[in-house]
Amino acid sequence: MNSILVIHASPRGARSHSRRLAESFVARCLALDPTTQVHRREVGRAMVEPVNEAWIAAAFAKEVPRPAHMEADLATSDALIDELQRHALLVISLPMYNFSVPAGLKAWVDQVIRLGRTVAAEATPEGTAYRPLVHGKRAVIVTTRGGEGFDPGGPYAHLNHADTWLRVALEFIGITDVQVIAAESDETERFAQTYREAEAALARVAAERTRPAEQLA
Ligand SMILES: Cc1cc2nc3c(=O)[nH]c(=O)nc-3n(C[C@H](O)[C@H](O)[C@H](O)COP(=O)(O)O)c2cc1C
Repeated sequence: MNSILVIHASPRGARSHSRRLAESFVARCLALDPTTQVHRREVGRAMVEPVNEAWIAAAFAKEVPRPAHMEADLATSDALIDELQRHALLVISLPMYNFSVPAGLKAWVDQVIRLGRTVAAEATPEGTAYRPLVHGKRAVIVTTRGGEGFDPGGPYAHLNHADTWLRVALEFIGITDVQVIAAESDETERFAQTYREAEAALARVAAERTRPAEQLA
């Protein structure tokens, strides 16, 4: 399976740095392997509906099978999970918004983390144990920020609840192979440099992705 699901979280179109950077990575992947299938899911310029009371009632319903009206309440969630399951690589473009992620991406995550579909819960003597149900996928988070110092080891790393939080959410459902590439200071002259460095890092990720497995050892 050689397919990419691209999730764009910025409400901005052509002006979006994170979108442009992620698309340059996708273009590079396609150049290296033209058989790659690319599918795009917009969660920045077109909102995924947030979960609501009916969704919660349906998602945690005890009835098996669920009544038809509950299945209908989970239709968006099912479609987004099916879409996720069809692809080997997730590329998520992510602007940092108020130290966290834009609302559209949060809504997507809330729709996709589903008991019984992407994560299982079992009662144990120690409490609830969660078991991820998504297997064999990788994710590349391409993030841009207006400020700087949010990367690991940076002076503001402790304020970064954007890519760090997204990594936790992806790992919770079983996507543990997650790479984060960031460009910072987008309002300053330094941005051109951090953007170039991010592009170079993404080029390495793309090349490594298409290298035959025996060469990776
Ligand atoms: C509503 C809003 C909140 C933001 N919050 C932060 C923030 O907390 N930290 C930061 O470094 N930059 C912040 N920024 C700047 C964006 O992260 C930065 O401009 C980013 O590159 C935007 O991504 P885009 O170009 O893909 O739209 C914020 C921008 C907006 C519009």
